[in-house]
Amino acid sequence: PALDLVVRNGQVVTAADVSRCDIGIRGGRIVTLGEGLPAAAREIDAAGRFVTPGGVDGHCHLDQPMEGPARMADDFWTGTRSAACGGTTTVIPFAAQARGQSLRAAVRDYHERAAGRAGVDYAFHLIVSDPSREVLDVELPELIAQGHTSFKIYMTYDDLKLDDGQILDVLAVARAHGAMPMIHAENADCIAWLTQRLESAGHVAPRFHAHSRPMLVEREASHRAIALAELVDVPILIVHVSGREAVEQIRWARARGLQVFSETCPQYLFLTAEDLGIDDAYTGARCVCSPPPRDRANQPVLWDALADGMFTVFSSDHAPFRYAGDDGKRPGGAEVAFHHIPNGIPGIETRLPLLFSEGVLAGRLTPQRFVELTATAPARAYGLHPRKGTIAVGADADLVIWDEREITIGNHMLHHAADYTPYEGMRLRAWPGCTLLRGEVVWDGAQCLATRGQGRFLDCGRPTLLPAARAPRPAAGLFAGLAQR
Ligand code: URP
Ligand code: ZN
Ligand code: ZN
Ligand code: ZN
Repeated sequence: PALDLVVRNGQVVTAADVSRCDIGIRGGRIVTLGEGLPAAAREIDAAGRFVTPGGVDGHCHLDQPMEGPARMADDFWTGTRSAACGGTTTVIPFAAQARGQSLRAAVRDYHERAAGRAGVDYAFHLIVSDPSREVLDVELPELIAQGHTSFKIYMTYDDLKLDDGQILDVLAVARAHGAMPMIHAENADCIAWLTQRLESAGHVAPRFHAHSRPMLVEREASHRAIALAELVDVPILIVHVSGREAVEQIRWARARGLQVFSETCPQYLFLTAEDLGIDDAYTGARCVCSPPPRDRANQPVLWDALADGMFTVFSSDHAPFRYAGDDGKRPGGAEVAFHHIPNGIPGIETRLPLLFSEGVLAGRLTPQRFVELTATAPARAYGLHPRKGTIAVGADADLVIWDEREITIGNHMLHHAADYTPYEGMRLRAWPGCTLLRGEVVWDGAQCLATRGQGRFLDCGRPTLLPAARAPRPAAGLFAGLAQR
């Protein structure tokens, strides 16, 4: 049968290769890759342009309820529409368990938030904040078996954090059932102690957020997370790694033979602690996220770790809050102390253009490595590969065709519901000229063509970053020694 669409003559990039070829699409999937494919009902000329897989954003927050007056700016429609216009066709936000809530109820709640709204395909990571016996023995294993094969745990934030014993319990479930644990590594007690001292000294401006969470608290928690994972003998993925000292912990773990995967995000490549303010100006609240952006000397270390494979994935950690408004970073127009500013910055739309421009086109990353970090590896880490994250026969026809042109980032051109971008005024060398979701144009370089409800929920399989299925299997290593006693 005839093809529905041919994308012709692009420089087609996968995690392995760059090759000039045509992409034949039928029924929303890639059915042929070749030279001189026959004419189709619709054609897109990609001559001289890079074509990459639609981005897989393995870390973003959409419509997550917050403590206090803050409210996330993006729901599943505005967040995913913004994703599509920045070249991302799959998002994996979080279904967060509130303490005392059943994990299954949390998943049901987020399905309702997403249904009929998402403009690109989506799955959920779980957030486990209350690992009761029921959660550990029944709910988590069942949800993993049903296709929720990744979850995040927090070492900080009062309403989310687990202690080391709880983390071990949850990691043991991940090991037994083959799930991918994601860990937010910051030492909560150090942060609380520093925050209290800063506050008593009257240091409450946004810039003190960085002082309350220095690199040391991330380094220590990263090391502890690695040790806990080694004890249980389970792979982990450390999210939003911000600088050199945490990268060193991951290099050390890898050299030890441990399966420690890692993620970094645009804010650590392009922002610094100075963006939180060089004086006590409140506008720095816009860049409050955790871990905080570090100093400029950390940035080349992160670029090296992106290039050499130390980082596994590159995600946005989009956590959008408006700056103005009763429910934003300045609740009711008030300038609150740094530790009451909601944490997180918007970036779901700028993630790919920032890395493509300043990574690939600036000569810091190969096009293949860009694809691996932004699409293939996250799809493999979270059980969506090979349907998502690559350009291959049988994969969904999720594609980005890049326009190399000078562009200045401005919030007016973005499609999220936040009222600012931390990258305002930054000059880039490229932007997606076209995004295809399952063969449909959802962004044409000028207009958002995604529609509410066009995105589908994706059941995740086992993470395939690992060479073989790891679970269920008997305990081994240190963990077995302890179990036998
Ligand atoms: O500051 C951040 N990153 N907020 C989002 C939640 C998280 O920890 O990822
Ligand atoms: Zn986090
Ligand atoms: Zn996050
Ligand atoms: Zn306070």
